[in-house]
Amino acid sequence: MFEATLLEKGLKLNLPSGQAYFNYFWLRDNCPSSFDPQTRERVFDLFALEQDPKAKAAIVENRRLVIDWEEDHRSYFDLSWLEQWATVGSRSDPAAVKRNLWYGNHFQQVKRFKQADLELDQNLVCDWARALLDEGITIVTEMRNSDQSLTDLAHLLGEVRSSVSGNYFDVRVHIDPVNLSFTASALEMHTDTPAEELPPGIQFLHCRANSVDGGNSLFLDGAAVAEDFRKAHPSDFDILSTTKVPFYYEHDDFDWRSRQRVIELDDQGNVSGLTFSQHMADVFDLPQEELDLYYPAFRRFGRWLLDPKYLMTFRLNAGECIVFDNRRIVHGREGYTASSGERYLRGCYVDRGELRSTYRILSKKRLY
Ligand code: OGA
Ligand code: ZN
Repeated sequence: MFEATLLEKGLKLNLPSGQAYFNYFWLRDNCPSSFDPQTRERVFDLFALEQDPKAKAAIVENRRLVIDWEEDHRSYFDLSWLEQWATVGSRSDPAAVKRNLWYGNHFQQVKRFKQADLELDQNLVCDWARALLDEGITIVTEMRNSDQSLTDLAHLLGEVRSSVSGNYFDVRVHIDPVNLSFTASALEMHTDTPAEELPPGIQFLHCRANSVDGGNSLFLDGAAVAEDFRKAHPSDFDILSTTKVPFYYEHDDFDWRSRQRVIELDDQGNVSGLTFSQHMADVFDLPQEELDLYYPAFRRFGRWLLDPKYLMTFRLNAGECIVFDNRRIVHGREGYTASSGERYLRGCYVDRGELRSTYRILSKKRLY
């Protein structure tokens, strides 16, 4: 009942889930023998074939599809493996989770982890990584008060990736600031360093001191805002999710530039994140007539980012490290009085891709 029917460019196979079609190139390319068992990489070279791959014969025996190719090669495929591709159509991915969107009342529910607990228990690191995928924000508490402490924490998820300010940055009042965050001014809602070609993913802000008047932290879920915005203002949403605008970060010794879409969609069309910063937006260079539409959409959306419905306002305390997805979560800070005390946050980033890799590995290990 599992017989295969050979066609011109592929074969049909009756599987328990129904009839499925498989292309010959795909079958030959993914023959189990195409992969090096040690490195797990494909070592079969499709380009070395003299002719396009074509099956001469195919039979099903012992729950395997056996193909004899016109070239001198035989392939064996487990039917259950073929079934997975016929039904799901992609490699299963534990990191492909549905985002839990959150609103301004979320602060008490933000997932919290103690640094020392994370260091002792890989399952907790798995929960932490999962919370970052689900909600995009977490707080690590009882952080050791040293530079190394932040490095240690970041290394639980991956390598620190450099950014416009190097591997680490110090958010406090600088004598010659090259960036508004290095002053005591308010920081409007933004995502960090949009002027990079690939803006950083997971951001860590380790609060080492905070005794000043003011300086509250502002955080919101950009995906939650944008999904609501799509329903209320669909044409504005379309403009912001399709049009790229320029961002820059420029001073005496550097000149970063990029073009980004303010609203980013994933392959399913869901909002995966935002790239947003007024202080790093370059002079918009769209044709002036297009700006007649772009600017009102941009301003309307920017005002939604101030709505208390979405905004969590809280004080970050010394010993806490807020860890969040910089491509999804929009953040800012209220201004503060520099002379009233000390305020110091040390920051760094880890790529989102590495977070997903770490989560996949930890969630696999967890099965045992
Ligand atoms: C930044 C920033 C937040 C703060 O430096 O980009 O957002 O609370 N800082 O100072
Ligand atoms: Zn920032």
